[in-house]
Amino acid sequence: WPYYLAALAFGYLLGSIPFGVILTRLAGLGDIRAIGSGNIGATNVLRTGRKGLALATVLGDGLKGTAAVTVAALYGPETAVIAGLGAFLGHLFPVWLKFRGGKGVATYIGILLGLHWPAVLVFAAVWILVAYITRYSSLAALLATLATPAVLWSFDRIQLMQLFVVLTVLVWIRHSGNIAKLIAGKERRIGRQA
Ligand code: G3P
Repeated sequence: WPYYLAALAFGYLLGSIPFGVILTRLAGLGDIRAIGSGNIGATNVLRTGRKGLALATVLGDGLKGTAAVTVAALYGPETAVIAGLGAFLGHLFPVWLKFRGGKGVATYIGILLGLHWPAVLVFAAVWILVAYITRYSSLAALLATLATPAVLWSFDRIQLMQLFVVLTVLVWIRHSGNIAKLIAGKERRIGRQA
C-alpha cells in the first residue's frame, strides 16, 4: 500500500495544477474566478473571448490526468487507477486554491484517455452532439459522464467502471448549480457571458 499512497499523492499534485487560473493570469486577464460562472475550467475561460486560452486550459487540465495515470501504470493497473482518482481529487480540491477547484470534466477525459482511450470516442461523440444541439457545456458533460461507466462495463473493464462511477458522481455533485440553472432555463450557453 505505500505504492498506492504515493500514487494518490502523485496524482493529486499533478491534478491540483489549475491551468485555467494560471493561463488567464499569465495572459493578463486577472482572476478567472471573477468572470462568468466563476469556474476555473475551459468553458469559463472561453467566456473571456480567448479561444486559444480555453483550448490550452482543456489540454492542460486533461493531459495532467493522462500523465498521472500513464506514469503510475508503470507500477501496475491498480496504481494507475489510484493515481487517476488522486488527479481528479487534486483538480476538484487543490490545496493551492484553498481546496476550491474545478468541476472535473477535462481531467475526467484525460484520465479516461490514459486508462482506456476507446471510451473517449464515445464520450466525445456524446459531448459534441449534446453541445452542438443545446450549446450547454454542462449538459453535454453530464450526459457524457453518465454514458462512460456503461461504456467501460460493455468493454468488460469492471475496475475502471468502478473508478468512473465515483468520478461521475463527483462530476454531478460539482454541477449541482448548473443542474439547477438548466432546470430553471437560466444556464449559460457556450461562449456566452450570461
Ligand atoms: O462541464 C462544463 C462545466 O464545467 C460548466 O462550466 O463555467 O458553465 O459552470 P460553467
